[in-house]
Amino acid sequence: MLKSARVLVVDDDRAVRTALSVNLRKAECEVSLASSVAEALQLLRESPFDVLLTDVNMPEGSGMRLLDEVRQHWPDTRVVVMTGFGSVKDAVTAMKAGASDYIIKPVERDELLLLLGRALATRALQRELTQLRQEVTEKYGFANMIGISRPMRDVYGQIEAVADSNALVLINGETGTGKELIAHAIHYRSRRAHGPMVAVNCGALPETLLESELFGHERGSFTGATRQHQGKFEQADGGSLFLDEIGEIPPSVQVRLLRVLEGGVFTRVGGEIPVKVDVRVICATNRDLRKEVQTGTFRADLYYRLNVFNIKIPPLRERRDDIPLLVAHFCKKFAERHGRREPTLSAAAMRELQAHAWPGNIRELEHFMERTVLLAAGGDVAIVHLPDSDIVERPGGVGIRIADIGAGGLPFALDQVERRLIIDALQESGGVQAHAARALGISRSNLNYRIGRLNIRMQDITFG
Ligand SMILES: Nc1ncnc2c1ncn2[C@@H]1O[C@H](COP(=O)(O)OP(=O)(O)OP(=O)(O)O)[C@@H](O)[C@H]1O
Ligand SMILES: [Mg+2]
Repeated sequence: MLKSARVLVVDDDRAVRTALSVNLRKAECEVSLASSVAEALQLLRESPFDVLLTDVNMPEGSGMRLLDEVRQHWPDTRVVVMTGFGSVKDAVTAMKAGASDYIIKPVERDELLLLLGRALATRALQRELTQLRQEVTEKYGFANMIGISRPMRDVYGQIEAVADSNALVLINGETGTGKELIAHAIHYRSRRAHGPMVAVNCGALPETLLESELFGHERGSFTGATRQHQGKFEQADGGSLFLDEIGEIPPSVQVRLLRVLEGGVFTRVGGEIPVKVDVRVICATNRDLRKEVQTGTFRADLYYRLNVFNIKIPPLRERRDDIPLLVAHFCKKFAERHGRREPTLSAAAMRELQAHAWPGNIRELEHFMERTVLLAAGGDVAIVHLPDSDIVERPGGVGIRIADIGAGGLPFALDQVERRLIIDALQESGGVQAHAARALGISRSNLNYRIGRLNIRMQDITFG
């Protein structure tokens, strides 16, 4: 840790400077020396230091002023102050002002090295924390949420409106529409952002386990409960609790959940001591809870409690304008991840992607684009192979407009039309090539040749 750490020693007493520098150099630190605050500031301006070791009482300008300057302009530099035995009070003041540690003169070598090691370790941790925070914010800020369509702008507006309140949020949306992403965005844009964000998948656990997962249990409350166990509600104290697939929770747990949401107080399974927590709950479901209430599988009182602020995420097929942006985003992401060049998609390929129904929404598109980037192997993508049955809109049949002609030019566009007609003919003939050839007015061998040239495969044809 200490090896090649950059340390700046500031003391007006030459003997002290010399002694410290000898010890620090033995520990393989890179040491610079200053005899005044002015000199120290000059050195700091020239290059950064890991640790500043400064005397508090110096004739011209005290070490406290230096501490203030460093906190303000070089927040990454740790400050350790040195004081005489008689002025421990100064040390306390310095600690309050942001020094990371103090040492009493005369400075002992072992103590000094221990202390510097500690200062450097906290600095490393601090840096790591700052970096992690930044990564998390980048991941869950709006930066990574792609989409500028009207419905998505509405969603952003709702996130913005609710994030910094303590209101319960219920997120609705089909599978893969981004419910989890939005739950995180709400947490990281709230005042609880520095608190924990704990997620529970309510659909993944059987009834009894879910109960102790959420509320914890006391020792001996059931066979196998050998220790007291903290539930997710306790773990999320001071932060947010994300209850994913809330529609799946069984009735007994629904009752308990309602009680916590109303009072903020609960007891662990098998316990009597009330536990109080400060938790903001965010839930998500792909079910229509109102319907579940009507059929009696979901408690009406819980539903009304949860439904304070409802964010509905539209399925991808209702915001096709966002598809080109998402495609570009995923091309870039997966090209980077897999070390490939970003492929360029032809207009025809993009049209196919925009026409697809995407029942698995963004998740399906994301996986599809990862595959496409890999298959493209750094080349361009002229056509994409989507399962035909999922295409809900095919604007104008095989009709093609000049605006649709992409990088491949007319020959490529004509190939697309030919391909479409052959697939349709094969489909209608139930896969019998002789019949398809007759419908197309060509010989069977000619059809065969074209199938090969256009790389039409069985998967491209859906029967039904
Ligand atoms: N607007 C968006 N921009 C970019 N990526 C998105 C967007 N929405 C979702 N994704 C990505 O799509 C994938 C699925 O999102 P997420 O897991 O949040 O969906 P979900 O609604 O929770 O799905 P499920 O109901 O199946 O749990 C994730 O990889 C997520 O990062
Ligand atoms: Mg999810």
